[in-house]
Amino acid sequence: MDIQSTTRNPPETDADCVVVGVFEGEDVAHDTPGGELQALLESGEARRGFRKLAVTHAGGKRWVLIGLGKRDEFDPERARVAAAVAYGRAGELGAKTLCWEVPHHAGDEVVAGLVEGTLLRDYRFDRFKSGAKDENRRIGALLVSAHHDVAEPVRRAVVVANAQNDARDLQNTPANAMTPTALADVARGLADELDGLTVDVEGREGIVARGMGAFAAVAQGSDEDPQLIVLRYEPVGLSGPRLGFVGKAVTFDTGGISIKPAAKMAEMKFDMSGGAAVVEAVAAIARLGLPVRVLGVVGATENMPSGHAVKPGDIVTAMNGTTIEVNNTDAEGRMVLADCLAHAVAEGAERLVDLATLTGAVIVALGSVNAGLMGDDDGWCEEVEQAARTAGEPAWRLPLSQEYADMIKGRYGDIVNSTAKREAMSITAGEFLHRFTGDVPWVHLDIAGVSWDRGKPYAAKGGSGWGVRTLVELARRAGRS
Ligand code: BES
Ligand code: MN
Ligand code: ZN
Repeated sequence: MDIQSTTRNPPETDADCVVVGVFEGEDVAHDTPGGELQALLESGEARRGFRKLAVTHAGGKRWVLIGLGKRDEFDPERARVAAAVAYGRAGELGAKTLCWEVPHHAGDEVVAGLVEGTLLRDYRFDRFKSGAKDENRRIGALLVSAHHDVAEPVRRAVVVANAQNDARDLQNTPANAMTPTALADVARGLADELDGLTVDVEGREGIVARGMGAFAAVAQGSDEDPQLIVLRYEPVGLSGPRLGFVGKAVTFDTGGISIKPAAKMAEMKFDMSGGAAVVEAVAAIARLGLPVRVLGVVGATENMPSGHAVKPGDIVTAMNGTTIEVNNTDAEGRMVLADCLAHAVAEGAERLVDLATLTGAVIVALGSVNAGLMGDDDGWCEEVEQAARTAGEPAWRLPLSQEYADMIKGRYGDIVNSTAKREAMSITAGEFLHRFTGDVPWVHLDIAGVSWDRGKPYAAKGGSGWGVRTLVELARRAGRS
């Protein structure tokens, strides 16, 4: 989709469909010459409540009038939703070029939200559909019209939304195509393309040689080569804390020997969502040229049952020397992340955030509205929580404490990967990760509930790309300080 900003008024553009928003208690700021929009409001056909839509025609264009609700409740998330809803209606009207009239006095974040909502709603995943795709019937362009120059926020929003859509592509691609090596190839391609971004990849041999016994144990049941993908974005001449982003990329989670039931197992192609977000967020940060150093560590593997798979009761040794009793081979994400977190610490990360579709329990607790957030440093937890909220990807903090840490004590080894009781399962997973983060301030985001089928107007079904916007926002903030 082609996206441009303009300071021309919508009627003067060659858009065939103009979207105009109206807040509660306000009237249409720039009406059509014939006053059609205000007339729609006065007749009661158009309403000012959030997401309400009405349509008219004037000057050879379609006009979509959308209610924006109360002005002081209108935030970037509402802008994304409004843009997605308007896009849907414009599509039904057969529009080809949309023009959004940016509401007066709206800030850059709202402009960005309108662009993001449009691009995210425009996303489709049809790579595997045979037959001709009728691109002519799609909206091909967006013009963002404002009195002042909004080129910069528009450009940034395009980079971020495209990165999020790229993460959705990685998520939606089935596990037979999105193997660990395929994901590593995507990371390599991005490093070839982008200045300041490099990637190093280790396969099974390298993972074993580094002593990553937890990661290797998960991978040993699969014939696919696991990949430790390390991305580095290092703008020249920069100091300041190095952010460490760590992602779980289990490209398919069968549960292993502790195999999952068949119902909905197909969804476990999405178990690489954390890794997808890390790869695409680091790429977006490089594309934006943000003044910050970032280390990305992604652990990619399948979790399969087989004659050489890890077995319940096996004891393995992680890179930091911790021994783990593998009581349940389906608690594999924390094993992969254990070694990836320890690796990020060893590679000099000074602030850690990990993203992982780690527990079904977080879906029970928070649904697809909030991600679960845990951490050991209140300041860093607040920083990540604020960045997530600003990005429209809210996360809710769950507690960690010694009593939870005690619940993962091992009988034969140091710790167990799965507790006997079904209690506090998201938190005990967090406490497990905590054993591998050293003294580095760390936040864990459990994204199992928010990574797919979110039901948002701009991301209803399939991979949501959750986390890309939060990580970019964190990098933006780090670059400012
Ligand atoms: N990838 C799953 C978590 C998951 C389940 C995400 C459903 C999204 C939807 C993870 O590897 C897992 O299997 N977790 C287990 C842990 C348990 C065995 C301790 C869980 O949450 O049930
Ligand atoms: Mn699992
Ligand atoms: Zn998993």
